Amino acid sequence: MGKTFKRTTVTSALPYANGPVHIGHLAGVYVPADIYVRYLRLKGRDVLFIGGSDEHGVPVTIRARKEGITVQEVVDRYHNLIKQSFQDFGISFDIYSRTTSATHHKLASDFFRKLYDDGKFIEQVTEQFYDEQTGRFLTDRNIRGECPRCHAPEAYGDQCEKCGATLSPEELINPYNAETGNPLVKKATKHWYLPLDKDQQWLENWILKDHKEWRSNVYGQCKSWLDGGLRPRAVTRDLDWGIPVPVQGAEGKVLYVWFDAPIGYISNTKELCDAHPELGSWETWWKDPETRLVHFIGKDNIVFHCIVFPAMLKAHGEYILPDNVPSNEFLNLEGNKISTSKNYAVWLNEYLQDMPGRQDELRYVLTANAPETKDNDFTWADYQARCNNELVAVYGNFVNRALQLTQKYYEGRVPACGELNDYDRATLDEFRGVKERLEDLLENFRFRDAQKEAMNLARIGNKYIADCEPWKIIKTAPQRVKTIINISLQLTANLAIAFEPFLPFSSQRLRTMLAMDSFSWEDLGSTSLMHEGHQLPQPQLLFTKVEDEAIQAQVQKLQDTLQANALAEYKAEPVKPNIPFEDFEKLDIRVGIVKTCEKIKKSKKLLKFTLDDGSGQDRTILSGIAQWYEPHQLIGKRVLFVANLAPRQIMGETSCGMILSAVNYNGDLSVTTTLDDVRGGSQVG
Ligand code: MF3
Ligand code: ZN
Repeated sequence: MGKTFKRTTVTSALPYANGPVHIGHLAGVYVPADIYVRYLRLKGRDVLFIGGSDEHGVPVTIRARKEGITVQEVVDRYHNLIKQSFQDFGISFDIYSRTTSATHHKLASDFFRKLYDDGKFIEQVTEQFYDEQTGRFLTDRNIRGECPRCHAPEAYGDQCEKCGATLSPEELINPYNAETGNPLVKKATKHWYLPLDKDQQWLENWILKDHKEWRSNVYGQCKSWLDGGLRPRAVTRDLDWGIPVPVQGAEGKVLYVWFDAPIGYISNTKELCDAHPELGSWETWWKDPETRLVHFIGKDNIVFHCIVFPAMLKAHGEYILPDNVPSNEFLNLEGNKISTSKNYAVWLNEYLQDMPGRQDELRYVLTANAPETKDNDFTWADYQARCNNELVAVYGNFVNRALQLTQKYYEGRVPACGELNDYDRATLDEFRGVKERLEDLLENFRFRDAQKEAMNLARIGNKYIADCEPWKIIKTAPQRVKTIINISLQLTANLAIAFEPFLPFSSQRLRTMLAMDSFSWEDLGSTSLMHEGHQLPQPQLLFTKVEDEAIQAQVQKLQDTLQANALAEYKAEPVKPNIPFEDFEKLDIRVGIVKTCEKIKKSKKLLKFTLDDGSGQDRTILSGIAQWYEPHQLIGKRVLFVANLAPRQIMGETSCGMILSAVNYNGDLSVTTTLDDVRGGSQVG
């Protein structure tokens, strides 16, 4: 704060190229970054917007093994898909490159080597978990075992997803290879560490004293890391995918993905500037103290961007440090955690197939609901409501009225503005304050409130035209109507500017409808944007209603995924201890034919059966399967039952035996029967 900068380097977290991007990515990082950058560009500021794919690390290698393709094929596929999605959603990167690029490999390698040569690392041999059968050391995420806190059986080496505990693999009970299930042993290996403990003091000053303006979630997370005391962190790994450690004797080791990835911001800037000399040297964007560096990230990236990367930059010595790190919290989806591995998400590529042309609708809803300070939930019902009640009914409706009336009354030519009355003046006054408020909110990364402010402009316009009712007075007061329409068109033009950072596609459509070819942020608030006589083309609807069917289809898709995951997660019960044959012989299991079956009053669970058990007498059995069958479904069916179970009194009835059912993993019951028409009373064994 206070310091003025000449230019801004904006980065957005490099997504892992191990899957497509989803709405959580968009809401958390890319839409806010894009809003900010578009705003700065509209203000005429010097800015670069740097993006790219994070193509190293373990997840891409797991994906490759799962799909039986090479890691390079995995990252190629997802890099291209992700890049396309961002382009489709109007994320206006100046460059979107990748960490497998030659430029990046060299820059990251040189970065490491400089720190190494300057003696900034400590070398340490430690015992790491090793899978002897695959000959691989395992990373934390790849190790699973029992959680020492809550005893969930499948906690990860870095975290237990059940109880949320942060863990280290050493703490796991019976650790095993998550991919193969193999047990693990410890084996010695050498690695290089960044001694973050030595950075404790300056980081405390820099963050806790000098950057009190950072978002409270960011500041709070940094504080708790710092309060816990920083420890050295390994920056190399035993892996065969990544950037080789440029040191003799480090064969088979690569840079830790979190060491190389943030350097990717720098590499991508270099790639961009090398290709576009008019942008100046890449070094200006990373080393000049008059450059402002801003990182847009999600909350799981905070420590890396606020503590580790700055420590790396400082250790290198030539780089500037981030001025702000606006991080969002997480976006949930219909009350559940979004998960790439569980395929529970709204994927951007699929969204566009299902909802073609509705990029701005999603951008709008994600910003309106942005998890800026706490986790938030995306629901399709809310999406529909915001699209229909806000974009269509307020913004779209106002614009449409203004443009249609211009066509109807003036053949599409902007009418002259006459005398203003008090109501006009009050409306315009309300309107003019918006520019400053918008700027203030945008400069402070409060995109959610900023968009609300822009929407407020539309509300003001909508109310103005509804209150003035020009259609009622066109005959009696034609001069007055000219003024009303003129003002409405000025407001419309303002909307095209105010919404440009948020909703670039519809802003572009609106500018076309206004035949408005040049515009600038500084015009915001002006009431002379549309000149008298200016000819407007035939308008189209700015937004269209989202129908119930489209929403139901999306909700169904998510429920299907949940259902499929639930089924996939069930495991068969372990087999009971062995019994001697004589014990089995004691059981008398038989086939019975259902003669009658009825519900039992006062019980939701029980059905009362009479069976033909071959004895010539009816046998009565009560069975707790009413939840799964209507009585008539079972009449005439052959069922298996235990014939020699001692009779029991249940709800005033005597039940002689037990009907056998198969219990599904999820607890559902299915009555067992025979394949052929076996006679009642036949023995099973
Ligand atoms: N790939 C990481 C993630 O998706 C983010 C990397 S950000 C960078 O969480 F700084 F390392 F590039
Ligand atoms: Zn746990």
